[in-house]
Amino acid sequence: MTETVGIDRMGFYTPDMYLEMTDLALARGEDPAKYHVGIGQDKQAVIPPTQDVVTMAANAAAQILTPADKAAVKMVLFGTESGIDNSKATAVYLAHLLDLPADTRAVEIKQACYGATAGLQLAADYVRARPTAKVLVIGADIARYGLHTAGEVTQGGGAVAMLVTAQPRMLALEPVSAYHTADVMDFWRPLGRTEALVDGRYSTNVYLDFFKTVWTAYQAQTQRTIADFAALTFHIPFTKMGLKALRQVLPEATPDQQVRLQAAFEASQLDNRNVGNLYTGSLYLSILSLLRHGHLQAGDRIGCYSYGSGAEGEFYSAIVQPTFRQGFDDERLTALLANRHAVSVAEYEALFTQRLDLSGRDVQLPIGEVSAQYYLAGRHQQQRLYRQRAVD
Ligand code: COA
Repeated sequence: MTETVGIDRMGFYTPDMYLEMTDLALARGEDPAKYHVGIGQDKQAVIPPTQDVVTMAANAAAQILTPADKAAVKMVLFGTESGIDNSKATAVYLAHLLDLPADTRAVEIKQACYGATAGLQLAADYVRARPTAKVLVIGADIARYGLHTAGEVTQGGGAVAMLVTAQPRMLALEPVSAYHTADVMDFWRPLGRTEALVDGRYSTNVYLDFFKTVWTAYQAQTQRTIADFAALTFHIPFTKMGLKALRQVLPEATPDQQVRLQAAFEASQLDNRNVGNLYTGSLYLSILSLLRHGHLQAGDRIGCYSYGSGAEGEFYSAIVQPTFRQGFDDERLTALLANRHAVSVAEYEALFTQRLDLSGRDVQLPIGEVSAQYYLAGRHQQQRLYRQRAVD
């Protein structure tokens, strides 16, 4: 019998503060409708200096791992483009913080926003070959473009953690996928820079071109059409970008199918609209948002378009499992987003510059108000000081 392999559980973490996009628009002399409608973002996660990609990943993964899972995790694949070291993998710090067994393979994967998808596909292949193994896949990033830049409205941050297993509770990955690589300079971050270099409009065009390419290749491989999909999900650095991709293929659907796909898209962008850009985690927050807010049923096929600037694109599909609602803690995720507090533009600007700088000097961060289970307390002798709070 061929094993079903896919996403068994998903966890999500984003810090407890955000910036209202109306406030940012007014401070930057823009019409708020440009941000809410033209870009399609309502709130943006603000990342305090006490959180980095390792702590956010730990806060997301801790939600989903039982002691039995920890014993069975044989690999940690950490997709990120905002890593904290040029040599040592974030996955190693994470495995230690989560107290995973030493016989775990732990590596970081980098290809802009595509890293988590590479992790997911490698994990699925690994589990197909070893059905009792479990793999922890992470997509965690802090999206920074810089104050007063055009990309500022498309910032954000957070982490998605996925447990990949045989007989998954949530989504069975179908083995066919179509991918495409080309050397494109649409977005990159040279060594030593904390903000990316980006040509946003060019990047959007490449993203749309790649989508057309992999969508067409997937259809040719599978003989499927848009009618075979209950939903299409996208990498959404800002929600308008996903909407543009959807609009490219909607004419292939009948009017009834178009209504269904548009409703599914609405559900799939709700959480992203209130968190902002997650880079590697964006597609996976969108899938989680669809499962939380959409009207999916067991057996539905969802299409997933992943894109990482530079550039790599992939289209794959997954089948919704009857037990999919057991794979995430809906109440907890709703509370996580609802219990955040708004910061002013002045507070956001101060926090933006307070993160650990590249100087390497010793730093003690203010940790009095930290609410997260895992956090960063500072840096000593070039080493980050990770801490864990006891939780109920
Ligand atoms: N009301 C409603 N919509 C408005 C508006 C208003 N008052 N003013 C402008 N808009 C719309 C524009 O028509 C445009 O929509 P369109 O793209 O459908 O044509 C949208 O808002 C953005 O306007 P634009 O003038 O292009 O904005 P910008 O020059 O400030 O740049 C980005 C927008 C997205 C290019 C910029 O934020 C960016 O570079 N972001 C980073 C991109 C990225 O993440 N790249 C990596 C992707 S993987």
